[in-house]
Amino acid sequence: MTQPLLRPYTLGTLTLPNRIVMAPMTRNRATNPDLAPTELHAEYYSQRASAGLIITEGTYVSPRAIGFIHVPGLYTETQVTGWKLVTDAVHAAGGRIFCQLWHTGALSHPDLQQDGALPVAPSAINPHDKAFTHAGHTPTVTPRALTAEEVTDTVAEFRHAARNAMRAGFDGIELHAANGYLFSQFFARSMNQRTDQYGGSIENRARFLFEVLDAVAHEVPPDRIGVRLNPALHELGGVIFDDPDRATFYGGGAPGYTDYPRDDQHHTLDTVQNNQRVGLDYATARARSRATRR
Ligand SMILES: Cc1cc2nc3c(=O)[nH]c(=O)nc-3n(C[C@H](O)[C@H](O)[C@H](O)COP(=O)(O)O)c2cc1C
Repeated sequence: MTQPLLRPYTLGTLTLPNRIVMAPMTRNRATNPDLAPTELHAEYYSQRASAGLIITEGTYVSPRAIGFIHVPGLYTETQVTGWKLVTDAVHAAGGRIFCQLWHTGALSHPDLQQDGALPVAPSAINPHDKAFTHAGHTPTVTPRALTAEEVTDTVAEFRHAARNAMRAGFDGIELHAANGYLFSQFFARSMNQRTDQYGGSIENRARFLFEVLDAVAHEVPPDRIGVRLNPALHELGGVIFDDPDRATFYGGGAPGYTDYPRDDQHHTLDTVQNNQRVGLDYATARARSRATRR
């Protein structure tokens, strides 16, 4: 009998030849000033095209979204051209690939922002974490709170990047709403103390995600949109999830969730938990995660 992992899987209108999905992984290989993928990215991803589905490394939706060096974006024509190299190579090798759209919010640093500006976030709260700048791991600063108009602008940035993803030949997109970055910062009371429609109740704190989902659905078929949530990385990037939120929000209780396809089994990333302060050191997080599995 065929190994179950190798059996085909129907994902909306997409048929995956197997159930192996390559996790999104930041590689920091866009060392060019345009932050555009190159032939190296095309080679790397096409080598992995036998996976049922590839999710790319987190990819910036705008210059403000930047929080690590050498990570590619999807907001300029040069970047679209670079990603086309990747999608063409993956498709030529028989694969399927979604682009993970990313905004780091407070987990950035003025050294990574245009004209040394402060990073933007739901509230002016320092996550007391580290950003990966040209000087290495650098302590974060107190960011600037987005105005409500700027939240709308950020939604538009996601939509623009989603449109570019389709133009670049991706099969779909995934929103990076996990691991302490901008969406997670909106979700968490510890990082979101807004008093407008984006703060307070869980529905308000989830509003930014729903607005982005509505916006990107104009560009990408809804069954080709994924959302990565992670209830487990408590204390990552200043994000503290309390139990009521974990149950309500990640259990899918917040109004709006049911409007979108979602996988109820997806909140099982509990291997990295127990209030570990993992910061942005994914290698350590992974080692700890592996250790707890033994
Ligand atoms: C080097 C590295 C880069 C990562 N980059 C991303 C990323 O860009 N987006 C994301 O959602 N997760 C990212 N992750 C998290 C992984 O997708 C995965 O969830 C994590 O490594 C735990 O799985 P593991 O125990 O198999 O390593 C990254 C992890 C590592 C080790």
